[in-house]
Amino acid sequence: MKRLLPTLRADQTSESLVSVINTIQIAAKEISFRLHQGALAGVLGSSLDENIQGETQKKLDIVSNQLLKTLLLESPNVHAVASEEEDSIVESPNSGHYLVAFDPLDGSSNIDINGGVGTIFSILRKPEGEQTSENMFLQPGKAQIAAGYVLYGPSTMLVMTTGKAVRIYTLDQTVGEFLLTHEKAEIPRDTKEFAINMSNRRHWADPIQAYISDLLDGEEGPRGKNFNMRWNAAMVSDVHRVMSRGGLFTYPWDARKPEKPFKLRLLYEVAPMSMLVEKAGGKATDGYNRLMDIVPEHIHQRVPVIMGSANEVDMCMEYHKQHPKPY
Ligand code: F6P
Repeated sequence: MKRLLPTLRADQTSESLVSVINTIQIAAKEISFRLHQGALAGVLGSSLDENIQGETQKKLDIVSNQLLKTLLLESPNVHAVASEEEDSIVESPNSGHYLVAFDPLDGSSNIDINGGVGTIFSILRKPEGEQTSENMFLQPGKAQIAAGYVLYGPSTMLVMTTGKAVRIYTLDQTVGEFLLTHEKAEIPRDTKEFAINMSNRRHWADPIQAYISDLLDGEEGPRGKNFNMRWNAAMVSDVHRVMSRGGLFTYPWDARKPEKPFKLRLLYEVAPMSMLVEKAGGKATDGYNRLMDIVPEHIHQRVPVIMGSANEVDMCMEYHKQHPKPY
């Protein structure tokens, strides 16, 4: 079976980019090891810290963030990193050509229940001649050089693209290597499965209310077919299911907290996942616009998300055309 780095080189990936991806996979293997040790590693449970977005950090969030940050900042090819767990960007003492944005441990509320969690990463080129500041990261998803996630589930999988096919690697725990197990992920265009946190139903706006209501009406409703629902509460696990067998994943606008109407972060979660979904033949939108076209206004920006099987995403967008925009 092919190992990660040779497959990247076979795709003509530059050595500098191979080296950045290598750094990420080293950190991911360490995170995977610690997660699989679970309570034995003595790192589970909440710490007293809160990250800047007001969520309680788990100790493993901190450990994962620290690992990725430290290793990436040591890389000669990285200029700066932006992490979901950091207030601001962190500049490397080295002046590499790449910027890396990451969510070190997405879906971390699943840690305490031994559920799936993941690391998401996005690699951008440092804009030429630009002063080092947060602005360097304010590039649309379509500018990404590479994107991927690592799913720490029953097995640890790395799913990534450098702009070509989406490749899936599985961590062989016996030799400590990511081995290529799927040459080209392809998301089926049609689906009968959706993923949404249904408990927020009363807070959604008209387009999603109408769309989900028609899915729930199944064979008797306007869609004329039954839909299944799944929700892991970890974007990596939910998007991985979509990547594996199709589906529609959404975290829409909702009215719970007017000051925070969207949940998912553009830079660390949405842009990289959108690149992967599109490269696997799916679509990713905020209901109106392609997510990969959105230029971030700040590094911690959140957006509404609808992604997955192309025909189903198109269908959901039709409901957005027919109902007033909530924001
Ligand atoms: O952004 C963090 C995250 O955990 C995502 O991974 C996941 O899709 C979502 O939040 C789950 O949100 P909720 O707890 O509202 O279901």
